[in-house]
Amino acid sequence: MLRYIVRCVPLRKCPAVAMSSAKYPDVSELRIPYRSSNDIFDVGNLVSKNPIKQFEAWFNEAREVPNIGEVNAMALATASKSGFPSVRMVLMKGYSQQGFTFFTNYESRKAGDLEENPVCSLMFYWDPLKRSVRVEGTVERLPEVESLQYFDQRPRQSRLGAIVSRQSTALENREVISKKYQELLEEYQDEEKNIPKPAYWGGYLVRPTSMEFWQGQTNRLHDRICFRKLKDNEIIDSKYTHQGDEDWVFERLAP
Ligand SMILES: Cc1cc2nc3c(=O)[nH]c(=O)nc-3n(C[C@H](O)[C@H](O)[C@H](O)COP(=O)(O)O)c2cc1C
Repeated sequence: MLRYIVRCVPLRKCPAVAMSSAKYPDVSELRIPYRSSNDIFDVGNLVSKNPIKQFEAWFNEAREVPNIGEVNAMALATASKSGFPSVRMVLMKGYSQQGFTFFTNYESRKAGDLEENPVCSLMFYWDPLKRSVRVEGTVERLPEVESLQYFDQRPRQSRLGAIVSRQSTALENREVISKKYQELLEEYQDEEKNIPKPAYWGGYLVRPTSMEFWQGQTNRLHDRICFRKLKDNEIIDSKYTHQGDEDWVFERLAP
């Protein structure tokens, strides 16, 4: 039934409820300038034809920008086995030629998605630079020893927070979790006392299969250079598709 309705009511024909409502402020005019047309990102501006090295160049540049906020914050999109999507922010805690790592609760909603459908998409957005990096790839758990290493270097209060929170489960009220946290603070007030990593907490590695570098233009002719893995037996049309390093190829995409 739902499928029938979705097919019969294309999105553009839905009534424009929010746009016409007098109750809400009109935000349709919100618009700020991006980069000017003499400040473009072209193939010649790539610092590397390896997308992780290109990421590193942009990431390092972003780290130098005052007020960038959390430069390692990224949106993580997952989907359930049935394809229902969900997105949330996480902190990227490492990158290498293998991919990107982040840490979370293995019993959370995102982890549930990743266990049954081990693929995801990541998005970094660095507003002051008008740049984003979009990653798609496969996901796997980090080896336990790496999760342990990272857990042990976290501030004590973050470690205790990880123990207290059965992430994404419903809570009766805030007090329940504050009380548990206070109890743990007392239990571990001796700074020498080791805080054990809970089994339900650890890291994931995202191995990229595509990485897109986007830079915004005021006139909306944004720059998009997308790296992807060469498919088996694929013959590339050199007019559009360029050889990157290793088994990467890259293309300019329409904005
Ligand atoms: C900037 C930012 C960084 C975050 N970093 C993490 C993180 O590294 N790991 C994590 O589990 N949750 C992180 N969160 C919280 C998640 O966005 C999310 O609320 C939580 O992981 C539960 O998501 P889930 O129910 O989809 O599993 C962060 C939130 C924000 C806004």
